[in-house]
Amino acid sequence: MSFPGRFITFEGGEGAGKSTQIERLARRLRDRGLEVVSSREPGGSPLAEEIRHWVVRGEPGAIAAKTELLLMLAARVEHVQQRILPALQRGAWVLCDRFVDSTWAYQGYGRGMDLTMLHQWHHWTVDGLLPDRTLLLDLDPVIGLQRAGRDNHPESRFEQEALAFHQRVRQGFLCLAQAAPDRYRVLVAAQAITQLEEQIWMAVHDLFPDP
Ligand code: TMP
Repeated sequence: MSFPGRFITFEGGEGAGKSTQIERLARRLRDRGLEVVSSREPGGSPLAEEIRHWVVRGEPGAIAAKTELLLMLAARVEHVQQRILPALQRGAWVLCDRFVDSTWAYQGYGRGMDLTMLHQWHHWTVDGLLPDRTLLLDLDPVIGLQRAGRDNHPESRFEQEALAFHQRVRQGFLCLAQAAPDRYRVLVAAQAITQLEEQIWMAVHDLFPDP
């Protein structure tokens, strides 16, 4: 699939600073006169945001792992159909806080679900749509969970999972990045915000259309 727009995703564990960096990249791209659509998963369309409400709240064990997966996938179908594809088709840059790599890292590596099956689901649900670039903000989960827990927000079902779960997720992301070096850029999240912003800018430069 090839579109006039560009699809950039931000991935990483809890507290990696994805939303701050999405705002900064969005500002820079808009300054260049580009249309930017910032979004997030789970969520990003009205129904997908409703699904988010169910899936990120409550106690860790309150939702069966299979239900959790199906809710993530249902939210993604809505988000892709309603928001991502129309934006890419009209030439916008879509910046998304999490996408399918989160399913592979959290449900695959974190919960131990079969990765081959998860890849098949991805093809069935959204025709295997993949980002042009995935920026992995890599961070030790011990630091990330401290950062994320600071404001003690209600959407903390995943944050309450054991540290070992978050460590599997981190290793999962690193494995995914290693397997797809053209698409992924791995960045150190534990550094000054402005420095990381600059590295992200460099990491998307080759995606600008030829002048
Ligand atoms: P967020 O708070 O970073 O936006 O993400 C909500 C949580 O949802 C986060 O802990 C990761 C989790 N998640 C999955 O487990 N699978 C998925 O496919 C997605 C998109 C998110």
